[in-house]
Amino acid sequence: MNLNINNDSVTEIISAERLHVRIRELGSEISRDYAEIATPLVVIGVLKGAFIVLADLVRTITIPCTIDFLHASSYGSEKVSSGTVTIRHKITSIQNRHVLLVEDIIDSGLTMQRITGDLLQMNPASMKIFTLLDKPEARKLPVDIAYTGFVVPDRFIVGYGIDFNEQYRELSSIGIINQ
Ligand code: IMP
Ligand code: MG
Repeated sequence: MNLNINNDSVTEIISAERLHVRIRELGSEISRDYAEIATPLVVIGVLKGAFIVLADLVRTITIPCTIDFLHASSYGSEKVSSGTVTIRHKITSIQNRHVLLVEDIIDSGLTMQRITGDLLQMNPASMKIFTLLDKPEARKLPVDIAYTGFVVPDRFIVGYGIDFNEQYRELSSIGIINQ
């Protein structure tokens, strides 16, 4: 499917149906992996991009969880990473809690490196990373990902929460912007 929005042409690469099937699978896996924990799982979404995947994922998780968000931005208005990551968070205590970080897409790895560094200082019992999309070709820093939705090519991705200049977050499928 090709969409023409404004002056961009967006080609769908992952349909809404495939997204839902894969998220359900990962939700079951997460529910099994954390079945024995004594306190609710702390699910932390990285704003803004992860808001849709987090909302869909937690509804497939069958164990008790609490939900929090932090805000990270590494991209300005350009399609290239600025190399600096700004993080804002006011999350409730995660000390001795099991944390699942939910990210939309991992690219260079810079954002995750910053976030995990910050959160580990708060002494969680454990911390794992979930990412809807992984772009391994663009990695600059290693990231230990526990749950991956889909591996995507090193192209500019939009949709299902993920933006280009704040646009396209509302698309129900994932696409690439043709340049
Ligand atoms: P990283 O720090 O380079 O790993 O980038 C992570 C963040 O950059 C993601 O959470 C996204 O918000 C953003 N990002 C990376 N790749 C893309 C893309 O292809 N489209 C839109 N945003 C992206
Ligand atoms: Mg993001």
